[in-house]
Amino acid sequence: MKIKQQVQELFPTPLWILDIAPADAAPFNARLKAEIETIISPRPQLQSGRNWQTPHDLHTRPGFAELAKLIEVSAKSVLEYLQLERFPLMITGCWANVNPPGSYHPTHAHPNNFLSGVYYVDIPGSGTEIVFQDPRPISIMPWSGKPTNVTANASVAQPQPGRMVIFPSWLRHHVPSNEGTTERVSISFNLMFTNYAETLAAPRWKASAGAS
Ligand SMILES: [Fe+2]
Repeated sequence: MKIKQQVQELFPTPLWILDIAPADAAPFNARLKAEIETIISPRPQLQSGRNWQTPHDLHTRPGFAELAKLIEVSAKSVLEYLQLERFPLMITGCWANVNPPGSYHPTHAHPNNFLSGVYYVDIPGSGTEIVFQDPRPISIMPWSGKPTNVTANASVAQPQPGRMVIFPSWLRHHVPSNEGTTERVSISFNLMFTNYAETLAAPRWKASAGAS
């Protein structure tokens, strides 16, 4: 007896990877790096494992207008993928992270937003990828020695200069210790619906007689 198997993947968790052309990325990243340096200089002393971070308003500063535009265009394409383009997103926070060798970002999510993302300015190499954790509450994942995208309980997005990774804000993630010899420079951002309460928060069902 022949059996035909089909697989239906339920509730997928998308990551959007957006790359700008290397020829454009190099000069753009050099400009961003210089802008970041002016904000964090003179650099305060750091505790071991910590990083330098700018204020969270970079998207409002003229030196980051080009980046803000890039984030907005990328957010629009993500909304089109989700078929939610009627509900525009706005940047609610945008900040740079400069991670020296040995520093890391512990596990966290980005509350009160719909989408979050990171843009890579400079990447030293190993230990700088972003690691996303399986959001499902109970995982029984037998170890076969070869994880796949349906058996792994963590998954990595590889960074590269000029790359943007956008993900659901609730998805917990961390960045392991920078094992390279140079700094890792990235810019994080959050996106939320501009008029969430007015356009999206009302009940999605119709009233019926006697309902309360
Ligand atoms: Fe994050």
